[in-house]
Amino acid sequence: MKLLVTGGCGFIGSNFILEMLAEYPDLYIVNLDLLTYAGNFENLQDTIPYGDRHRFVRGDIADRELVDSLMCNGIDAVVNFAAESHVDRSIIDASAFVRTNVLGTQVLLDACRRHGVGRFVQVSTDEVYGSLGPDGAFTECHPLAPNSPYSATKAAADLLVRSYHKTYGIDAVITRCSNNYGPYQFPEKLIPLMITNAMVDAPLPVYGDGLNVRDWIHVRDHCRAVDLVLRKGCAGSVYNVGANSEYPNIEIVRYILSRLGKPESLIRFVKDRPGHDRRYAMDATLIREELGWEPEADFESGLDQTICWYIEHETWWRRVKSGEYLTYYDTWYTERLGGKEAGIGRGE
Ligand code: NAD
Ligand code: DAU
Repeated sequence: MKLLVTGGCGFIGSNFILEMLAEYPDLYIVNLDLLTYAGNFENLQDTIPYGDRHRFVRGDIADRELVDSLMCNGIDAVVNFAAESHVDRSIIDASAFVRTNVLGTQVLLDACRRHGVGRFVQVSTDEVYGSLGPDGAFTECHPLAPNSPYSATKAAADLLVRSYHKTYGIDAVITRCSNNYGPYQFPEKLIPLMITNAMVDAPLPVYGDGLNVRDWIHVRDHCRAVDLVLRKGCAGSVYNVGANSEYPNIEIVRYILSRLGKPESLIRFVKDRPGHDRRYAMDATLIREELGWEPEADFESGLDQTICWYIEHETWWRRVKSGEYLTYYDTWYTERLGGKEAGIGRGE
């Protein structure tokens, strides 16, 4: 089988490629990634032993010519991870989100259509459903109500995927997963940001009252779900993916500080993210019952392992937290933290 994986140099895509190469000896992967600020070829160092079973192509999923040239070489299936993925950046400027997440998805779908690709998996998110009150969980029937420019572009892409299935009969499936954590996550997201800031005694910016709730899942459990959906999912279906691990943000931040032996005085409650969704929770009954998926990682030990990973990979995240990251950090956090404190988070 020859798989086109897009966004394979990002957090989830790189974990997925490593898992898939190890699991399936007959699998060949073409990895199309633009290497934006979030893409890092270092994440795929462990693919070297797999030789030509992993081929990297640097390029844009919205580049029709390039995508066509890759698909005409006999691609059996596509898994689309490529995206602009950070909510806060979408609030600063949504342009790249619209281009990659919406136009990019359409370009991939058109190419699948032209070249008769067997299956298209769209890796989507629980954020397309919007925000929950204190009770209940999102099922696949929940109406789409995205609240950030990021989630709006992901919802738009989901609708395009749906329409290509209905209109052209494309064999497409959508996964919608909750918040991932694990190795190689870019340190702009809550867990790696808090771990890496705490490691250098920088302030930890917690939005609002810190009581927003996210439903956490280990990235490997998400990758196993995507693999199952790729192989066995029903064409035209949506599958929610989540591990029933709901925590308020502040609890996670306090836990990280305690594991690192750092004081809670590092916590700063800062101005909230505009449009901040209060709570996510996923009902993953469908993927459990139809495809037999079960999450394996328990949140506490998964988080402990993740903290250890960042301690052991300090060179990795220090390199990542440089260059463009510093401009972003300044833009988003300077006012929130006050100039001097933001400087500490930048590693000064
Ligand atoms: P990420 O930001 O870590 O990685 C995104 C990757 O896509 C990067 O390697 C980047 O270089 C690449 N990319 C960006 N624009 C591109 C383009 N135009 N062409 C080709 N490559 C491009 O993101 P992630 O956290 O790994 O998320 C992967 C996917 O999973 C996204 O679609 C995201 O919406 C979805 N998702 C993420 C989470 C989460 O918690 N991180 C949860 C559910 C769903
Ligand atoms: O739910 C799935 C989504 O999870 C994915 O679709 C997105 O790609 C991914 O980025 C993530 O989105 P969130 O906005 O939930 O993740 P983030 O890590 O940015 O924030 C998690 C929570 O922590 C959220 O309530 C905001 C809060 N937060 C985040 C940051 C970066 C803070 O309090 N302070 C911060 O500095």
